[in-house]
Amino acid sequence: MPINLTINGRQVQAREGQSVLDVAWANGISIPTLCHHPDLKPVGACRLCVVEVEKMRGLIASCTLPASEGMVVHTDTPKVIEERKFILEMLLSDHPNDCMTCESDGNCELQSHVYEYQVPWKKSKGKTHTYPIGADPNPMIFTDFNKCILCTRCVRACAEVQGRNVWGVANRGFNDKIVAGADVSMLEAGCEQCGACAAYCPTGALTDKPSRGKGRDYQMRKVTTTCTYCGVGCQFDLNMRNGKVVKVTSNPKAVVNGMALCVKGRYGYDFINHKDRLTKPLIKKDGKLVESTWDEAYDLIAQKLSGVKGDSFAMLASAKATNEENYVFQKFTRAVMGTNNVDHCARL
Ligand code: FES
Repeated sequence: MPINLTINGRQVQAREGQSVLDVAWANGISIPTLCHHPDLKPVGACRLCVVEVEKMRGLIASCTLPASEGMVVHTDTPKVIEERKFILEMLLSDHPNDCMTCESDGNCELQSHVYEYQVPWKKSKGKTHTYPIGADPNPMIFTDFNKCILCTRCVRACAEVQGRNVWGVANRGFNDKIVAGADVSMLEAGCEQCGACAAYCPTGALTDKPSRGKGRDYQMRKVTTTCTYCGVGCQFDLNMRNGKVVKVTSNPKAVVNGMALCVKGRYGYDFINHKDRLTKPLIKKDGKLVESTWDEAYDLIAQKLSGVKGDSFAMLASAKATNEENYVFQKFTRAVMGTNNVDHCARL
């Protein structure tokens, strides 16, 4: 049975189990969030998503509020706006003012909300955190917990998406902080360097280390592709700048893997532009490998293969290739080489 409710005067319908935020977003009604992510269990930590609900006291976090029959919700009353501005002002009061050099500039959810709500950056009169920047020696993930807003998206992504439980929250009150294991290094706490924590972080607290300084989000051309490392077929976005791959980012629309990637998929791209990479075919001449043109190489392949048509030929393809490539392999083997000797190996 659909649940009928009203948001900003519009009649909308919800399914059992949907939150007010889910319903609003599904109907194109914007509500800002920081701690919420559709992949992760809602925790209601930041309260940026507050709304007013008739016959309910106070402002309520919409990400943890189940939609119910007859509910009347208002998402942008002056009271709601004022509360959101106050929350953002509080977050800024203990946040470094270094957007110009921050790796997440242009791709920071906190920055976007502060801009949208035009929250001024006042010089803090209170106590602020001074965590050492880049203190964790992890080769793939850069830490700057001065930018952490304690949304716990890293904690939940590591536990719920990756199943590693590396991150946790230590201490209480002002001393609350995100720690790896019992406040040890990420690798000591069992980090597999998948980078999920950095991918889900809404600020610059956790960022990808190999791509630091290589380009802003808006300077990248993103090309969605399929990972070639194993047969799972994960998809991600290659971030290209000046014709080179400088970063890999999750593509939330990836059917197989969503935001999840392993260390190889997310960080193993330096081979693409490596100086040792073969970019021209080599042909053995007089016992030595000599650079040749593609035309010369294809002619040689065609000439050699024409002598082994039929069952003396076999094709071993790879699970790491795409379905389309494997389709072409088998088609070539059957239609051109005239044999059904075709197989694949996941490790090739
Ligand atoms: Fe709802 Fe943070 S987004 S409380």
